[in-house]
Amino acid sequence: MQTAFAVKGNLFYTPVCGKLARYPGAYLVCENGTVAGIFDTLPDRYQGILVEDYGDKLILPGLVDLHVHGGQYAYRGLGMDMELLDWLEKNAFPEESRFAEAAYAEAAYHIFVDALLHSATTRASIFATLHRPATLRLMEMLEQAGLPCFVGKVNMDRNSPDYLRESTAESLAETRRWLEESRDFAVVRPILTPRFTPSCTDDLMNGLGKLHREFGTPVQSHLSENLSEIAWVQQLCPGTRFYGEAYARFGLFGGDCPTIMAHCVWSGEEERALMKEQGVFIAHCPQSNMNVSSGIAPVKQYLREGQKVGLGSDVAGGAHLSIFRAMTDAIQCSKLRWRLVDQDTPALTLPEALYMATKGGGAFFGKVGSFEPGYQFDAVVLDDSTLSTTRSCTLDERLERLVYLSDGRPCAKYAAGRKLF
Ligand code: GUN
Ligand code: FE
Repeated sequence: MQTAFAVKGNLFYTPVCGKLARYPGAYLVCENGTVAGIFDTLPDRYQGILVEDYGDKLILPGLVDLHVHGGQYAYRGLGMDMELLDWLEKNAFPEESRFAEAAYAEAAYHIFVDALLHSATTRASIFATLHRPATLRLMEMLEQAGLPCFVGKVNMDRNSPDYLRESTAESLAETRRWLEESRDFAVVRPILTPRFTPSCTDDLMNGLGKLHREFGTPVQSHLSENLSEIAWVQQLCPGTRFYGEAYARFGLFGGDCPTIMAHCVWSGEEERALMKEQGVFIAHCPQSNMNVSSGIAPVKQYLREGQKVGLGSDVAGGAHLSIFRAMTDAIQCSKLRWRLVDQDTPALTLPEALYMATKGGGAFFGKVGSFEPGYQFDAVVLDDSTLSTTRSCTLDERLERLVYLSDGRPCAKYAAGRKLF
């Protein structure tokens, strides 16, 4: 029983999509790093364990950022007047090239990890840059902070500037070396990261498929984000019927290969059917989709058709790291889609957005994103007392205000049973 402890406060979680469970003033017990249960009064068997009483504060499962670029954090909020492909060339690529220099990477990743640590996000799937040493340094920093993230060394061997491109052989050799060097991490894990089809030759994709099968490493990439990107992929891969096939033909599209695809704004019926069949995770990144003029993803339909969906900040396509912000953006975008595109599909609700931000994206990490017994103990404690109002709000109203109004900084945070602060 020594490894057990409890937190006490107003607990919320979403056991299924769209359903909000709430437990006012309850105990959430952690045993051996996982949730043991929720109790109104502490059972006898737990008498004497450490109880952290957070009073009237709100306690949620840690939020999950299913798609974020650590190597782009430094220029978040800049260059937001361009469309995707121009933005990549003028902003993303020059910035990412700076991570060749160890001192720059150290400073930039220090700022990024500090921001992530003090956000409500406990888990993230992160694109680093193509530089192996800087990627390992980011993994070390996350490990030290206690953030159980996936991190990817990016692969790019074509259609990229000279200063940010590897040869195919170099890209595969560096990736293999990075996977071998990543073995000693306890909570941080590697994820194969072909940037997107335009950046990766068939030989590189083929080699990454082999590395996946040898090391069992999952995969993340971008899919059907922006119309100009999709047209380019059609030119580059004339033999494919849809973009997703450009990954699937190398075994990099779900099934035995756990996969996150960011965006899926324009996925057609065949692509969606394959994503569903293969259990591909969709990282919905509404703010990025607005900033780089990609479009409005049909997320409510994805949920209805049983796709696996989580939320992503996609910093720096998205300017904000907060997944609360991603929740409100997702809801607002879904209203525009209903109003402007598809009157048969209603807008997202707050419990649906919270589900995507927790259990939806969390499923990529295992049993993550819920307070049901057996789930990893990831929790954030939030103080809404500073959001002054003359109204006396119900618990559900307090949650809604917190999501829409707070700066997203918790006053306490736990990941995989460990208190981070
Ligand atoms: N597609 C390929 N690379 C990127 C990137 O860095 N950000 C976004 N949003 N889309 C991409
Ligand atoms: Fe992205």
